[in-house]
Amino acid sequence: MRILLLGSGGREHAFAWKFRQSPLCKALFIAPGNAGTGQHGTNLAIDPNNFPAVKQAVLEYAIDMVVVGPEEPLVRGIVDFFRKDESLQNVLIVGPDGHAALLEGSKAFAKEFMREFVIPTAAYEEFTPKDLRAGLDYVSRQQPPIVLKADGLAAGKGVVILDNISDAQQELQEMLAGKFGAASEKVVIEQFLKGIEFSVFVLTDGKSYKILPVAKDYKRIGEGDTGPNTGGMGSVSPVPFVDKEMMRKVESRIIKPTIRGIQEREMDYCGFIFLGLIEVEGDPYVIEYNCRMGDPETQSVFARLNTDLVALCAAAAQGRLDEMEIETDERAAATIILVSGGYPGSYEKGKPITGLDAVNGSMVFHAGTKSDNGQVVTNGGRVLAITSYGDHFQDAIKTSLANAEKVEYEGKYNRRDIGFDL
Ligand code: AMP
Ligand code: GLY
Repeated sequence: MRILLLGSGGREHAFAWKFRQSPLCKALFIAPGNAGTGQHGTNLAIDPNNFPAVKQAVLEYAIDMVVVGPEEPLVRGIVDFFRKDESLQNVLIVGPDGHAALLEGSKAFAKEFMREFVIPTAAYEEFTPKDLRAGLDYVSRQQPPIVLKADGLAAGKGVVILDNISDAQQELQEMLAGKFGAASEKVVIEQFLKGIEFSVFVLTDGKSYKILPVAKDYKRIGEGDTGPNTGGMGSVSPVPFVDKEMMRKVESRIIKPTIRGIQEREMDYCGFIFLGLIEVEGDPYVIEYNCRMGDPETQSVFARLNTDLVALCAAAAQGRLDEMEIETDERAAATIILVSGGYPGSYEKGKPITGLDAVNGSMVFHAGTKSDNGQVVTNGGRVLAITSYGDHFQDAIKTSLANAEKVEYEGKYNRRDIGFDL
């Protein structure tokens, strides 16, 4: 198979690494990719949101299957674009269409879906600018903390949690007035759930599904889960508190009704579903759906996936996922993210990275890097993901931390406490 992978993060490097292990992978192209994906295939300087340019690459390189890493092209309808185009009819594409991707692209859509299919999630109401008064009144009747969510995609910044009613009313006013642009023209206000979060990944062809290894990510920049949110500072898989009984609840209460909802509504969903879950007093609730794999969870999850990922993706796109089995590596895996100084605020790019050759016993997945005349330099906030195996996740973390020490660039920072709460 000739594969085109869209995206440029650590998640995409992990996809590329895994695809390359498959005897089915005859050629791999990544658009736009990074310095790490370039080790496994050919990077193409194409923006995944430029669908005509993606199409041109598909035809030029005789691509058989397109796998979409990030959510934006999905929410913008890349799958619809492929379905409609005569010349792309024989090309497999892995990802939901624009309507199905609303499970991530619209919080209100996702909440209403969960309400209809009786999937456990926080109680909520939604408000638009014309219901501002009702919204302020609703907030005044809530018990803080109060969770406000911009309906649309807001680059991971659209969720605000406030500790008192007047701040929440102020925030609601600002959001409805366009604080997050069109994304906050509608705002979901939901009940605060107190518990511990984890991530479950499902691959579906719209009829059957396969559950991938469970993971947990660490979103805050600071140790002890303090400071601003980031794209993710580390991940572990498996997650000790997510035992067989918890996964049984997740499957029966969340995964099965989600797939049933997709079928009943005839949604075009062949791809990954990322369930952002929270355990509250022994029961799982959905915090959010994402229509893609997570980053940096993918690095730990794929490290533990023994099944051929090309075969899995093709089976999902062809509607024969029921033929596949998920085989898992029994070892634990853990990932530590190295970021640029200043991230998630402003940071500098273009810092030369040294010491990559000294890494021993870990995999290095590139995120914000690029190759500058043969020298790998920083090119983003999250720079590298260092993933290791261990009998216990703590052993895996130790190995990743030891290797993180060997890599150098100006401003390097990483958390040293990934897994601290497990
Ligand atoms: P989301 O973008 O919906 O995943 O929200 C971002 C983060 O906000 C989540 O990872 C949670 O840590 C937190 N969060 C979202 N919704 C809730 C909720 N209802 N209760 C508590 N925390 C929440
Ligand atoms: N790790 C969280 C995400 O990918 O959204």
